[in-house]
Amino acid sequence: MTQEELFKKLIAHSKEYGFIFPSSEIYDGLSAVYDYGQMGVELKNNIKNYWWSAMVKLHENIVGIDAAIFMHPRTWEASGHVGAFNDPLIDNRDSKKRYRADVLIEEFLAKQDEKIEKEVTKAANRFGETFDRAMFLETNPRVKEVVAKRDEIHSRMVKALTDNDLEELKQIILDAEIVDPVSGTRNWTDVRQFNLMFETKIGSVAEGANTIYLRPETAQGIFVNFLNVQKTGRMKIPFGIAQIGKAFRNEIVARQFIFRMREFEQMEMQFFVRPGEEMKWFGYWKNFRMNWHKALGFGEQHYRFHDHDKLAHYANAATDVEYQFPFGFKEVEGIHSRTDFDLGNHEKFSGRKLRYFDPESGESYVPYVVETSIGVDRMFLQVFSAAYTEEKLTKEDGSADERTVMKFPPALAPVKAAILPLVKKDGLPEVARRIMDTLKLDYVCQYDEKDSIGKRYRRQDAIGTPFCITVDHQSAEDNSVTIRHRDTMTQERVPIADLPRIIGEAVSFRPLFQQIVNE
Ligand code: GAP
Repeated sequence: MTQEELFKKLIAHSKEYGFIFPSSEIYDGLSAVYDYGQMGVELKNNIKNYWWSAMVKLHENIVGIDAAIFMHPRTWEASGHVGAFNDPLIDNRDSKKRYRADVLIEEFLAKQDEKIEKEVTKAANRFGETFDRAMFLETNPRVKEVVAKRDEIHSRMVKALTDNDLEELKQIILDAEIVDPVSGTRNWTDVRQFNLMFETKIGSVAEGANTIYLRPETAQGIFVNFLNVQKTGRMKIPFGIAQIGKAFRNEIVARQFIFRMREFEQMEMQFFVRPGEEMKWFGYWKNFRMNWHKALGFGEQHYRFHDHDKLAHYANAATDVEYQFPFGFKEVEGIHSRTDFDLGNHEKFSGRKLRYFDPESGESYVPYVVETSIGVDRMFLQVFSAAYTEEKLTKEDGSADERTVMKFPPALAPVKAAILPLVKKDGLPEVARRIMDTLKLDYVCQYDEKDSIGKRYRRQDAIGTPFCITVDHQSAEDNSVTIRHRDTMTQERVPIADLPRIIGEAVSFRPLFQQIVNE
C-alpha cells in the first residue's frame, strides 16, 4: 500500500467511526474546516489533558489561563501580525491553482533529498560493509551535482525569504524548473503577499463599526495578561502561562486533511525568563517537549528537530518538532525563543509598563520569553496516523482474517473498556450492567450486546478500546470475567472486583509522566 493510499484510508476510517466529519457536510462542506465526532472529541480531550497536565501540573511555576478569542485590534499591530503575518503566494495560470511559493520550493528540495538518498541506498547495497557514505557523497559525480543544486536553491530561498524578495522567489521557482503538480506547466504569475488574518466587525454598524480580527495564535492573550497573572499569582521569574484555545488563519493552501486548517486549536505556553537566560531555557523546553512526544511510544525514529532557516519576526532561535506522517516529516510543534519582542511592543503600543521587578537582582526589566506551541489537531493527526494498523490474522480453523485496529496509548484511547455479555439472556446482561455502572464512574465505557462477540471485538478494535470485558456463564457463578487485550488479542480470566484496578493502572497518565521527568 502506498503512503497516499494509507492516508486516504485513515481519512475514511476517521469518518466511518465518528472521529472527524467535514464541517457542514450536508451543504458539501467548507474547505479546511472539520468537526470532531463522538470518538474524536474524546481523543482530542485526552490529548489536551495530556498536554495540560504535563505543562501545568508537572511544573509548579506554570499556571493556565483562558483568554477571549477577540482582542483589541491594536494587539495585532503590536504583535506584528497586521504588518507581517503574510504568506508569499503564486498562481499557476493553466490550472488556476494557488500555492505558497516557499512550500513549492521546499517540496522541490525534499525531492532532491529523496534522489540523493536513493543513490546512497543503491550504492550501499552494491558495496556492502565497505560502503563509506561521506566519501560517496563527495565523490560520485551524479550525486555531487544534485547536492550542489539543492544547496544553491536552499540558500537562495533562505535569503529571499529573509529579505522578503518576492521577485527572487519567483526566479528560484523558474530556475529550479518547478512545474505545477496539477497542470504540469511552468506558467506562473508573480509572487504576492497575502495576510492570513480573518477580519470581522464588532459593534453595530450604525454606531461606527470597528474592525477586529479572529486571533491567529493564542499567545497574545497570554502576553497581554502577563502582569495580571504575575501579580495576582505572585509568580516569580522564571515562570510560565499556558493556554489551550481556538486560532484562525485564512490559509491559502489548505491541504492534507486536518494538518492545515482555517479554524484550529493551539496549546501554547509562554515561559518568562531573565534576559540572557533564554538559550538555557530554550534547551530545556526542546528536551522536555521531545520527551513528551516520545513517551507516547510511537517510536523514536519518527521524530526529529528541524531548526528554522528563516526566523519569524519575533524570534532569535526556533525549532520545530517534526513527526513522520504518511506524507513525510512535518511540523507538529514549534519552540521559539521570542526575546522581549512581544512584551516590549505591547509596552510601546499600550503605553503601559509590562515589567518585572526582580527581587534577586533589584532590577526591573521586560522579561524574555521561550514559547512552546503545538496544534491540537496536528497532534490528533499524529496520534491517529501512528495508531492506525491493519493486521492479517489466521482464524482458529486456519482461514485468513484481518482487522483494523487503532493502537492508541491507553491513556489517550477514547473508550477505555467495552462490557460485552456473551449472550442476551441467562442473567448475563444484568451482571454486565452492574460492571458498567461501576466502571463508568471513572472511565468512558461502552455496553454492547448486539451481534456476535467477534464482530463486537472488531468494532472496539476500530475505535481503539484497550479492553473488552466479556461476561459469560461462569461470571454469574464465580464473579469473574475475561478481559481481552486489544493489541495482543490475548484473554485472561480475572475477578470482577479487580477490574477498576487493572483498567486504572493501564489507562493512567502516570507512567508517561514518570518517563518524561526521568529522561
Ligand atoms: N505562537 C506561535 C505560533 O503560532 P506557529 O508555528 O505558527 O507558531 C504553532 O504555530 C503550531 O500551531 C504549529 O506547529 C501547528 O501545530 C499549529 N498550526 C499552525 N497553523 C495551523 C493550521 N493552519 N492548521 C492546524 N494547525 C496549525
